[in-house]
Amino acid sequence: MRDVPPNLAILGLQWGDEGKGKLVDLLSARYQNVVRFQGGNNAGHTVVVNGQSIALHQVPSGALHPSCFLLVGSGVVLNLEVFREELNRLAERGFDLSKRLLLSDKAHVILPHHIALDRWREGGAGKVKIGTTGRGIGPAYEMKVARMGVRLGDLLRPETLKDIVRTGYEEVRLRLGDEAKDLPSLDAIVADVLRWADPLLPFIGDTQTYLMDAWKKGQSILFEGAQATLLDIDHGTYPFVTSSNCSLGGLFTGTGLPPKALSKILGVAKAYTTRVGEGPMVSELHDAVGDRIREAGREFGTTTGRPRRCGWFDAPITRHACLTNGVDGLGLMKLDVLDGFEQVGLVTGYRDGEGRVSNKLPACAAEWDTLKAEIKYFPGWEKPTRGATRLEQLPKEARVYLDALVESVETPIAYLSTGPDRSEGLLYTTTFLEGML
Ligand code: GDP
Ligand code: IMO
Ligand code: MG
Repeated sequence: MRDVPPNLAILGLQWGDEGKGKLVDLLSARYQNVVRFQGGNNAGHTVVVNGQSIALHQVPSGALHPSCFLLVGSGVVLNLEVFREELNRLAERGFDLSKRLLLSDKAHVILPHHIALDRWREGGAGKVKIGTTGRGIGPAYEMKVARMGVRLGDLLRPETLKDIVRTGYEEVRLRLGDEAKDLPSLDAIVADVLRWADPLLPFIGDTQTYLMDAWKKGQSILFEGAQATLLDIDHGTYPFVTSSNCSLGGLFTGTGLPPKALSKILGVAKAYTTRVGEGPMVSELHDAVGDRIREAGREFGTTTGRPRRCGWFDAPITRHACLTNGVDGLGLMKLDVLDGFEQVGLVTGYRDGEGRVSNKLPACAAEWDTLKAEIKYFPGWEKPTRGATRLEQLPKEARVYLDALVESVETPIAYLSTGPDRSEGLLYTTTFLEGML
């Protein structure tokens, strides 16, 4: 057994919903600190313990471990009302976070007019529809970059809050034109923000210094990514992405820790591919097989309930994500969902209009539309993998498929997940996770 586990990042390698929540919860048993560093309540991270499912949106997924200290870093955009509700729901289930929570005073607040602008853009004809979660994430990050944002630290000085909210509010009103009439007044927004913030004020502080001290003292830190590399504002399928850096770079800007503070990177991917919202997805199956994956995997959004688009494992995107993040090992999730399929596909490359096959990802959305999936098929397996906890329980056919998957992404599988519960899964190869589960 290792005494101090390595400071570890858990990052999504596809288009989100890979099962990051399960892995963060599972590994949190070994970590003293768990920190969210980007995104907001567009995230929905599911934790299942003894058949009971809990969806977390902004609270770090170490919440169910009473010994874990929870942090929300400066790179996060926070919906105060939703955060408060999450704390209440957890308290009702017996998880009191009041002695183990710190929210960065530099994290930004999602405001009602950010949500209105997000929904207005998504709703109208002639606009580029991204299929956002409608949670105001994009506008909150835009306001941050435009230097018109409201930070949690601003909530500690209520007398200046109205002036700080005003600039962004006026900007949104101009953009909405006639439809701005449906916005609450500036005074109403400031009053709501102060009311939502009130119970959270004791938790606002300097997360960077806290984490720096924790690191220097040799405490362990688990970094919980939200969204995923293909939704990253720089490295994803732009413009069909979210508005933060959900790949490795966002960890450093979103916590204020230097790269030296991180030891290992666990990338999370499903044994197939899903995406929710608009944008390119070469591996998408528009047939009964896609429907079968959706039903078997219960692929409906944790945050919005939307059906997820489904396809076979897409090696080019996942390999790109492994390279972008310097992934040390994969958490490969939901293998059990493929149980009982006659054959299992693996997208090994993309074929362009001229018949050339490559595993490169184009930069521009129009170019994506010309690509077709090159699929290699493998025999399926009859004996279920669901709940497997030992390598020997895996059918030979599943091993053959997994070997090909590993080769295609040039990264070993560290943990293989065979069901939603904490107990369902196994260490697949000898990696840094050895002795930690
Ligand atoms: P996240 O956003 O990456 O945390 O993932 P979500 O929680 O949005 O979606 C993953 C879903 O898959 C959740 O409902 C999990 O409970 C479930 N899940 C995680 N791992 C497994 C697995 O190995 N098998 C199955 N069948 N479900 C899983
Ligand atoms: P977790 O952390 C899956 C997608 C949305 C949309 C795009 C932009 O649970 O994996 P946004 O509201 O962020 O502006 O939407 O990003 N998206 C997610 N898809 N899982 C998520 O989070 C997501 N967060 C955002 O569907 O396509
Ligand atoms: Mg999710």
